[in-house]
Amino acid sequence: MTSSIDYTERIPNNVDLSSDRRLQRALESWQPKFLQWWSEMGPALPTQDVYLRTAVSVGREGWAHFDHVALPEYRWGIFLSERDPDRRIAFGEHKGEPVWQQVPGEYRADLQRLIVIQGDTEPASVEQQRHLGMTAPSLYDLRNLFQVNVEEGRHLWAMVYLLHAYFGRTGREEAEALLHRNSGSDDSPRILGAFNEETPDWLSFYMFTYFTDRDGKYQLGTLKESAFDPLSRTCQFMLKEEAHHMFVGTTGVDRVVERTAQIMREHDTADVRAFGGIPLEIVQKYINFHYSVSLDLFGSETSTNVANYFTAGLKGRWQEERRKDDHVLAEAVATVTQVEDGRIVEAETPALVALNNDLRGEYIADCQNGVTRWNRILEDAGIDHRLRLPHVGFHREVGAFAGHHVTPDGRVVTAQEWDARKGDWLPTDDDRAYVASLMQPVYEPGKIAAWVAPPKQGINGRPFDYEYVHLA
Ligand SMILES: [Fe+2]
Ligand SMILES: [Fe+2]
Repeated sequence: MTSSIDYTERIPNNVDLSSDRRLQRALESWQPKFLQWWSEMGPALPTQDVYLRTAVSVGREGWAHFDHVALPEYRWGIFLSERDPDRRIAFGEHKGEPVWQQVPGEYRADLQRLIVIQGDTEPASVEQQRHLGMTAPSLYDLRNLFQVNVEEGRHLWAMVYLLHAYFGRTGREEAEALLHRNSGSDDSPRILGAFNEETPDWLSFYMFTYFTDRDGKYQLGTLKESAFDPLSRTCQFMLKEEAHHMFVGTTGVDRVVERTAQIMREHDTADVRAFGGIPLEIVQKYINFHYSVSLDLFGSETSTNVANYFTAGLKGRWQEERRKDDHVLAEAVATVTQVEDGRIVEAETPALVALNNDLRGEYIADCQNGVTRWNRILEDAGIDHRLRLPHVGFHREVGAFAGHHVTPDGRVVTAQEWDARKGDWLPTDDDRAYVASLMQPVYEPGKIAAWVAPPKQGINGRPFDYEYVHLA
């Protein structure tokens, strides 16, 4: 097992792929199908090249190299973090045993399922973002979009490698299916709801990369703990790439809020529409929407499947090793929030079955950091308005709140009240149409659309007016 990446191969990798001819051939026959998918479902805007980062090693320092690359020639490959020969299982009934380099027969189906579900989200977001290049607010943003897209493509490669290398024929079939399902398709949609929603405009894109990519971070964080070492190492490296996606979301929303605040001050009005800004009220509705559909991705509050995954060692908790408990949880209890007789109550449950809820709690705390940051921008601009995360039960379709109508401030209301008020809480057709009307492309270096502030800095030390993308 080497850690430097071999770029002389058709499939760049650091897993010594050429030593396993069968696996290499199988992946080389999947490669043209991936490229076909990319050309049909990947970025629709024609470009000559894009200033992208590519992994050159997986080590702590200097893993990324930046250069202008033609998108279809991006070197998608298979990169796993360095192997720790002493790594031991950190939780569950196998705690303390050496981690697995092969898939134990009894966990084969479950592990394959976990990998397929993760793998399905990666190309889905590329599909959802396919048309965004047509309306990019700047070349800097356009470049970031494409960086996210190529890396999600690479994350698909990461999961396909595991399926091919460790799951035999059924793994290869699942790898094919990952290209056949498509976001929003009637016949064969993506597996999870949020990945079938559209990402129609750039405010949605920033919200998606803030809230939905962050779900990805937390899911990868649990798989990084897996006793199945190749999965753990794969996810460790994916998390490094993922950090940039969340940066795009965090700073994207920063810049929208900053620009709106600027217009509000300049013109002394909250109605920024007349000046081409996005009202804070609409920003709030987008937060409400993207946050709530992302909360659904964590699954039901209680789940025996997830308890079994944990006990078996397949999927741990967020930062498992930093937790101060026995890592087995046979006796532990947790509280979950649910609805009883029309009221929101806290209920005690065995901690093992509440692990989705545990992960969602970590995620919620992290999401709050963004809101705090955006509010600081408002405060610094002398604006009293504050953004907030809605109640955990708001607009949920999965788990304990599904079928209930919960307001952003956590009141359970009737279907009539919900229908009458939901336009105050979620983007309406008018809101979306207004945001869509602002989405005019700005492709001139150094220029930016009027609804968003420029970034504080460029990419890799380049200035904002750098030619990050050459259009075709
Ligand atoms: Fe990803
Ligand atoms: Fe991502």
